[in-house]
Amino acid sequence: MSAIRIVKDNLKRIPGLLHVYKRIQKLQHCKVLCQPFTYTHNGLYTVHNSSFMDDHTFQQAFREAKAATNWSHPAPWRCYVNVWAATHSKNLKGDLVECGVYKGFTSHLLCRMLDIDNTDKQFHLVDSYEGLDYDNLTDSERQSGLNTKNVNYHDLLPGVQKAFAKFKQARVVKGYVPQILPEVKAETVSYLHIDMNYMHPEIAAAEYFWERMVPGAVMVLDDYGFRKHIEQKLAFDEFATRRDTLVLPLPTGQGLIFKY
Ligand SMILES: C[S@@+](CC[C@H](N)C(=O)[O-])C[C@H]1O[C@@H](n2cnc3c(N)ncnc32)[C@H](O)[C@@H]1O
Repeated sequence: MSAIRIVKDNLKRIPGLLHVYKRIQKLQHCKVLCQPFTYTHNGLYTVHNSSFMDDHTFQQAFREAKAATNWSHPAPWRCYVNVWAATHSKNLKGDLVECGVYKGFTSHLLCRMLDIDNTDKQFHLVDSYEGLDYDNLTDSERQSGLNTKNVNYHDLLPGVQKAFAKFKQARVVKGYVPQILPEVKAETVSYLHIDMNYMHPEIAAAEYFWERMVPGAVMVLDDYGFRKHIEQKLAFDEFATRRDTLVLPLPTGQGLIFKY
C-alpha cells in the first residue's frame, strides 16, 4: 500500500477533513508517494529494495528464533543489520557479545545465520535476566518511565538457557552491566550489540569492550536513534568523538560504530 493511499483512506472517513483529502488527491501525480511501500515496520517506511525480507535462510532463522524464544522482533530490518554485522565479524578474529539479551531472539537468529557451532567463535549473552538496574537511571530516564520497565523483564534466565542449550558455542552470562563485565570471557571481540535501553550501562559496556574489539569490528547500538533515548545518543556521540570517529545513524533507529 502506498503512503498517499493510507493517508487518503483515513482522511476521507472524517467529514471535517474532506477538504484535506481533496487536496491530497491533487498530490497523486507525486511519484514517490504513489509507489508501494516495500517495508513498513517499527517507524520505518520505504519504497526502496527490501529483498532481504524474501531471503529464505533469513526467514527460516527468523521463524526458528521466534519458536525458540517465544517472542518475535517487531523490526526485521533492525535484525538484518545485526545479521550483516555478525556476518562481517566472521572474517575477523574475536567473539560475539550481546549486552541486553531479553529472551534471546536476535542472538538466536545470529547463531543460526552464522551456524555458530561451526565457527571458532563464542557468543556471549550478557544480561541481568531480571531487567534494569534502577539505581543506574538518570533523572530524565526515570521521568520517561524506564523505572517501570521491569514488569516485562523478570525471570528470563530459564527460557534463555533452554533456547541456547543446543548451541555449544553460546555462553549465557548473568549479571548487571557493568559489574559483570570482567566475567565475560571474550579476550577479543568482533561483534558487539548493545541493547539495554539506558545510558550508563551502555556507555560502560562500550568503554569496556572498545579495547577488546579488533580493527574492523562493529558495535551496533540498538537504541541510538529513538527519541526517548536521546541521552544515549548524546553520550555515544561523545564516545565516538573522543575516538575521533562518528556514529553512523541508520533509518532503523540503530547506530553503528566501527573499530579502527
Ligand atoms: C530491549 S531488551 C534486549 C532485547 C534483545 N537485544 C533482542 O534483540 O531481543 C533489554 C534487556 O536489557 C537487560 N538489562 C537492562 N539493564 C541491564 C544491565 N544493567 N545489565 C544487564 N542487563 C540489563 C534487561 O534485562 C533486558 O533483557
